[in-house]
Amino acid sequence: MNENRRGDGAKRSLGTHFAVWSAAAAVYALLGVPMLRIVALETETFVQNQYEIQSLHTLAWIPRGWVASLAGPAPFIVIVLAAFFYRPAERFWQVGNPIWTWPQAVRLSLGAVAVAGLAAFAVPLSIAMVQWIGVEAYWWIEWYGGMLDVMERIRIAVPPIVIPGTIIGGATFLWWALGAPTRARTTDGGPILALRYAYYVVSIPLLTAFAATWIVGGPRLLRASSSPGYGDFTNNCGKCHERSSSFNLIKTPAEWKKTVDMHFDAKQIEIKMKDEERQGAWEFLLAMRSYSDEWTFRTRCQRCHVVSYLDWDKRRPEDWETIVGRIAWWSPFYYRTEVRDQVLAYLGEEFGDPDALLGLDRESYERFMRFGNSCGRCHSISRGAEYYREADAPQVQAMVERMSQKLPEPLSGEEIVEFAATYQEVLADTELFGRLFPHDLPTEEDEGK
Ligand code: HEC
Ligand code: HEC
Ligand code: HEC
Repeated sequence: MNENRRGDGAKRSLGTHFAVWSAAAAVYALLGVPMLRIVALETETFVQNQYEIQSLHTLAWIPRGWVASLAGPAPFIVIVLAAFFYRPAERFWQVGNPIWTWPQAVRLSLGAVAVAGLAAFAVPLSIAMVQWIGVEAYWWIEWYGGMLDVMERIRIAVPPIVIPGTIIGGATFLWWALGAPTRARTTDGGPILALRYAYYVVSIPLLTAFAATWIVGGPRLLRASSSPGYGDFTNNCGKCHERSSSFNLIKTPAEWKKTVDMHFDAKQIEIKMKDEERQGAWEFLLAMRSYSDEWTFRTRCQRCHVVSYLDWDKRRPEDWETIVGRIAWWSPFYYRTEVRDQVLAYLGEEFGDPDALLGLDRESYERFMRFGNSCGRCHSISRGAEYYREADAPQVQAMVERMSQKLPEPLSGEEIVEFAATYQEVLADTELFGRLFPHDLPTEEDEGK
């Protein structure tokens, strides 16, 4: 009877051990590997690039990068996950982590193997993180002149955070997962205490910075590893040139579409891909090196309108086009055509209304827009306005007539009178002016840009 029960218990605990370790291995295979191969692909891009610009004389680092990326973190992931899964197993089935009963020397060796794997992985990870953070930063900093500077700083600053961060962070988890020796703290001697404090002093700021790199770079890893087009891209896009060459470029979705389509349209290139594969490859490129309409809106508009955009009126598409066109005067490259199209697509979706009147009556709305489209064509509407704000009507009319001479088709007498009156009307009402013609008046924020 007793024998029998013990036999049952042994069977049950064997089953639990099996379930715990296979679940850990399955998470690594099904969730870990799709992410890790993105790390490896980034390393491949980096090595290829260094080879082509001749600071690296061999491509042998590519396969090593793949092995380090895929296999390096495997012992760590499996050991730590298993330790997590043993928590409920211990509670509900009284089956504990067998590792915890092993001799200390064996556990230390196992830890050393796992940390060595992580150390090998830390290098490809740091390369990948530089790329991801660089890609994120690119969309935000194009506005300013110092792009190369920022990119260079990211390249230099990220590896010294990511490499020790991966090793120290990983070792901390392993310390717990392999069953740290539980000794009363009071018996610790001076050197052990000193070591413990040194660990906190180094690891807290380091791991905080490490977490920050994940906050910026991590979302791109998630996007790329969850894109179903990985295979469509990797199987097809490396047949004639290095597949990694695409990742040296950051493009808008429309620009990537052009690149992919160019391959099919150019008669001299014979590229055999099904429509779904073509779509998949394009989507993978977007996940790796591009931005959605919404994210583009965030970089181009929400950088200033952090929350104020929530109060925006709905506007007509042509009105949005004028507003975005006007801000593009500040940086025609940052707001280039493809980027403007993305912002406008988002604005149309979220703040578009083809019949919007901005709370005015139709006649006034249309008159204001006629005026704005005419007087905002060559310069800001408010140019030289201080002088004319106080001027009398004939003086303003004379100025408008002078402007009219610059047009290919001069204004009619009626239009001159209408524009002169409208000009004075909108200048007199700052709030109305700001709503009708955003970004026209130089503001404190705009100064110095
Ligand atoms: C059948 C051969 C072939 C295949 C397959 C191929 N390419 Fe190309 N690719 C070329 C050639 C040839 C050029 C150079 C054309 C040029 O520069 O005008 C090129 C140029 C490029 C460029 C640089 C030009 C640019 O517009 O930025 C990129 C990026 C690119 N290919 C990406 C891809 C992607 C992505 C795929 C998979 C969908 C792919 N290639 C598949 C032959 C191929
Ligand atoms: C450099 C900072 C800056 C950027 C970038 C910027 N704006 Fe503005 N915008 C302002 C300021 C300042 C105002 C006037 C004060 C306010 O309403 O927030 C303004 C006003 C507006 C208004 C009028 C709000 C109202 O009162 O009805 C709209 C609409 C608007 N911006 C749209 C955009 C859009 C769309 C973009 C992106 C293409 C954009 N802005 C980018 C600074 C900016
Ligand atoms: C075809 C381009 C063009 C259009 C359209 C245009 N302007 Fe001008 N504007 C200019 C140029 C160029 C100058 C600078 C030279 C000058 O003063 O004539 C200028 C200067 C000004 C000035 C400052 C100079 C002064 O006279 O004190 C004001 C104010 C002005 N424009 C208002 C307007 C108004 C209002 C309209 C709409 C009726 C308008 N502009 C339409 C090109 C244009």
